[in-house]
Amino acid sequence: MARLLYVEASPRKGRSHSITVAEAFIEAYAAAHPGDTVDRLDLWNADLPRFDGAMLDAKYAILHGQAPSTAEQAAWGEVEAVAERFKSADKYLFSVPMWNFGLPYVVKHYIDIVTQPGLTFAFDPASGYSGLVSGPAVAIYASGGAYHAGSGAEAFDLQKPAFEGWLGFVGLTDVERLTVAPTLGAADDVTATVAAAVARARELAARF
Ligand SMILES: Cc1cc2nc3c(=O)[nH]c(=O)nc-3n(C[C@H](O)[C@H](O)[C@H](O)COP(=O)(O)O)c2cc1C
Repeated sequence: MARLLYVEASPRKGRSHSITVAEAFIEAYAAAHPGDTVDRLDLWNADLPRFDGAMLDAKYAILHGQAPSTAEQAAWGEVEAVAERFKSADKYLFSVPMWNFGLPYVVKHYIDIVTQPGLTFAFDPASGYSGLVSGPAVAIYASGGAYHAGSGAEAFDLQKPAFEGWLGFVGLTDVERLTVAPTLGAADDVTATVAAAVARARELAARF
């Protein structure tokens, strides 16, 4: 029995195109893998700990083997719990809107929390960095505009390179990309774009 972690990053819920496609994926996945579980993490309702100065004090007190306070240990325990939920999954599904050419800030917040030495990546002076997370991943990206090869707008797309650069850094290098774009345009065109992405999501999920 595998656990699929689904990380949702749009706050638009019923109006979100990335969520529509992700829900089609999950429905097809559940039908094809009835024994598996789907762990849903909605980043807009996740109550993630602040990654602020106090948290960094806790991080470095622990990393440097200094005596962390009780409060620092408790704070770092929250980070470890979020990172453990992430790294212990067997498979990964992400739905990610484009905001200002990049990622919504809740995604960056999550990345800042889970990307920790010894938890999700390792460093060795001889061999360099290595990711500690493994498993196949599907990333569903929605954007108002289109940024595909040949669109002329490729250079503006900081969403997919940033997200997949991070996935690779923590070890998730087996990534299928599913794009829902453009989601701004004539209603019929958007409907067709979403329908094509839903069909591809269902097909991917059945063999994931
Ligand atoms: C705050 C915000 C910023 C956005 N910035 C961009 C952008 O830079 N480029 C773009 O193509 N679309 C942009 N969009 C449009 C969204 O990418 C588009 O609506 C997409 O469908 C959002 O995903 P969702 O439908 O899953 O919420 C932005 C939307 C919002 C709400």
